[in-house]
Amino acid sequence: MIIAQLQETVAYIRQQCSTPVQVGIVLGSGLGNFIAELSVEKEISYNDIPHFPVSTVEGHSGKLIFGELGGKKIVAMAGRFHFYEGYTPQQVSYPMRVMKLLGVETVLISNAAGGTNPHFKVGDLMIIKDHISFFTINPLIGKNENDLGPRFPDMSEPYSKELIAKAKSIAEKLEIPVHTGVYTGVTGPTFETRAEYALIKLAGGDAVGMSTVQEVIAAVHCGIKVFAMSVITDIGIRDEENTITHAEVLQAAKDAEPKLTMIFTKLIESL
Ligand code: HPA
Repeated sequence: MIIAQLQETVAYIRQQCSTPVQVGIVLGSGLGNFIAELSVEKEISYNDIPHFPVSTVEGHSGKLIFGELGGKKIVAMAGRFHFYEGYTPQQVSYPMRVMKLLGVETVLISNAAGGTNPHFKVGDLMIIKDHISFFTINPLIGKNENDLGPRFPDMSEPYSKELIAKAKSIAEKLEIPVHTGVYTGVTGPTFETRAEYALIKLAGGDAVGMSTVQEVIAAVHCGIKVFAMSVITDIGIRDEENTITHAEVLQAAKDAEPKLTMIFTKLIESL
């Protein structure tokens, strides 16, 4: 059934914009300005796309944007779907499958995340080398779509080692410091308690956020290569008494965005 839906979605999108695309982009909270780098060919509001969920969270605009960058044809999601908004894991990851059918081979994902590695500071960038699902629901639960991918997908390298190496060397050349670490996906919408941040750190997580994991699982399932990067927008592990607000997360993401944009741009050029 999902294949039939996907075909309707893709047929509509192709009517609006028939150019094949190679690279998909998912932009995180406060990180939507990357779009300014694209020479835009077509924008399609999520509301107009059959079977596409509609984004509601502050800081997300909810459009699929087709354009070009560095000689590559791009489809970018301005605004993504989160489980905490009430979407099912299948809805959250639906755009990855749409991208696959549109021809996407590589997806670049960004997100805002809390730092659980004591060496991280607000505004730092972290290339995601692996993830832990901290009680998020696997989007592949249910009947497997054999036309998309296998029942039991391998997850030994969800984040392409080749793209990680490329991004590190790009960051070095640009003199942008980057960490490499493990992203822990949570459901949200609450930020973590102190005890939860401590547990995530103990479990090997360097950062924690409310997105990405379900998208990555669906992308890997259907054979899309993934690169993902977090902007550290707050520090979960801290001694002093302070709260975390969504406004602070958005501001920190905005401030760090130019660095992330440069790395994404060069990485796309290198593909
Ligand atoms: N926890 C979960 N999600 C987040 C955080 C955090 O500290 N910061 C930004 N997104």
